[in-house]
Amino acid sequence: MEMKEFAPDKNLLQMSQPAFQNATAEVVPRMASRATVPLLLLLGLLLIFLKLSQKKATLPGPSFCLGIGPLISYGRFLWMGIGSASNYYNEKYGGIVRVWIHGEETLIISRSSAVNHVMKKGHYISRFGSKHALQCIGMNENGIIFNNNPSIWKQTRSYFAKALTGPILQRTLAMTVESTRDHLEKLLGGNNNTTKVDVLLFLRAITLDIANRLFLRVPLHEGEIVAKVQKYFDTWQSLLLKPDIFFKFKCMYKKYEKAAQDLQDAVEELLLKKQQELRDTEKLHDITDFATDLIFAQTHGELTPDNVRQSLLEILIAGPDTMSVSIYFMLLLIAQHPEVEKKILEEIQTVTGKREVQNNDLQQLKILENFINESMRYQPVVDITMRKALKDDMIDGFLVKKGTNIILNLGRMHKDDFFLKPYEFSLENFTQSVPHCYFRPFGFGPRSCVGKYVAMVMMKGILVTMLKQFTVHSDNGNNLQNIKYIHHLSFHPNESQTLQMTFIPRNQAED
Ligand code: HEM
Repeated sequence: MEMKEFAPDKNLLQMSQPAFQNATAEVVPRMASRATVPLLLLLGLLLIFLKLSQKKATLPGPSFCLGIGPLISYGRFLWMGIGSASNYYNEKYGGIVRVWIHGEETLIISRSSAVNHVMKKGHYISRFGSKHALQCIGMNENGIIFNNNPSIWKQTRSYFAKALTGPILQRTLAMTVESTRDHLEKLLGGNNNTTKVDVLLFLRAITLDIANRLFLRVPLHEGEIVAKVQKYFDTWQSLLLKPDIFFKFKCMYKKYEKAAQDLQDAVEELLLKKQQELRDTEKLHDITDFATDLIFAQTHGELTPDNVRQSLLEILIAGPDTMSVSIYFMLLLIAQHPEVEKKILEEIQTVTGKREVQNNDLQQLKILENFINESMRYQPVVDITMRKALKDDMIDGFLVKKGTNIILNLGRMHKDDFFLKPYEFSLENFTQSVPHCYFRPFGFGPRSCVGKYVAMVMMKGILVTMLKQFTVHSDNGNNLQNIKYIHHLSFHPNESQTLQMTFIPRNQAED
């Protein structure tokens, strides 16, 4: 069989030629480059898109407009007060708004996710406010409330934390009941008659006395100190956001300086009394108090004398500033809602009978606790709190630069749709359990209210002791809706109006 000679295909031959190879080498890159350009473009677009989506979303709020925006927003804060202006902006622009105070970027936050983010993180432990103002009232790098030096604040806070928990917390209820009873007796002068009461003044005296019994324990003139605390608070509120130029004119802030100095001097005097008492005492009380701890810390060089005086001043003003107004609002609500009063009273009678309320009872007073929570939600006293960002951060998708001022609008956050009746006073708002993230009347996290446990115990103790003895009526037709308010650093009644209430002994009310 003849072997057929293998004849390679012509095309194959051509393909094996160098000339063909060259042609292919040219065509392939050309084809590739045609495909690469759109691919690279696509990739570029994708990268830009990714970058943009990671970059800050624009913060809602008034526009900068050649600096007019910052001027208007600062003016609004000075004119309306911090609380009112914050509500205005949150209502207009939503749960996160960017404005300017003092020319500095300031966020007002009422959205609960963002509020909780700020409260939880350690880089928001500073507050903001005019340094001159803080110096004038003694809070600059001293005390705790507006101390913006993180290391001094941390050290000082440990003394407050010790004083407001543990054995002192255990004694709070007994001291509260004792003080409330003493003040009621003094007020009525031994008679069990219907009495007209300047309630705010009365509650301030009680809360100051409780603070003295718990933290200082020296005789003091309540009326005098209460009046000084009021002026100090007005000064703090009036100066906090003032422009630097204001402090260049002594004549403009002289009266404020005097008000601050008056309270500082009074506290200094109390400290001297306490030091003297410690020198004279051979055996210290079984449980030392806040003032004693501060004095020892000063002796050991741990705290400066200015810090000791300011810390004592702050623990004495914290109660009268917050709790007296909170309880006044609660008494107004009770007077307006007899059905709520009836429920609270029935519970008190069931749990305590004829005896005084005791620590073990507190857990069982559920309706009272719901009432206190609902009152603080519906008509809060401390409805904003001020912080500063100590480093760059993202909050709910918005870039927040280091140094940004932050106002947490807790009052507005508490009107969230989560609540059954957000804009009404109703115990139903607390009948189902409320997740903490929706309700933070004392703040939360490292810079939260260090007195929150003591505050709850005091409010329960004062209310139970008063309500067991009296029913309250509001005079002049005053109610929460028609009295005039000042809404600045806190939300409180304008005291140029008469805020009397009538206390009617229960046995007479029932006749
Ligand atoms: C109804 C009563 C009270 C309310 C609603 C209240 C609420 C608050 C709020 C919202 C803050 C700011 C928290 C934050 O920035 O996250 C605060 C701070 C503070 N509260 Fe209270 N408070 C009350 C009573 C008290 C009492 C009785 C004391 C002490 C005896 C107290 C001591 C303080 C202190 C020292 C701070 C500053 C904490 C810091 O900056 O580290 N508070 N409070």
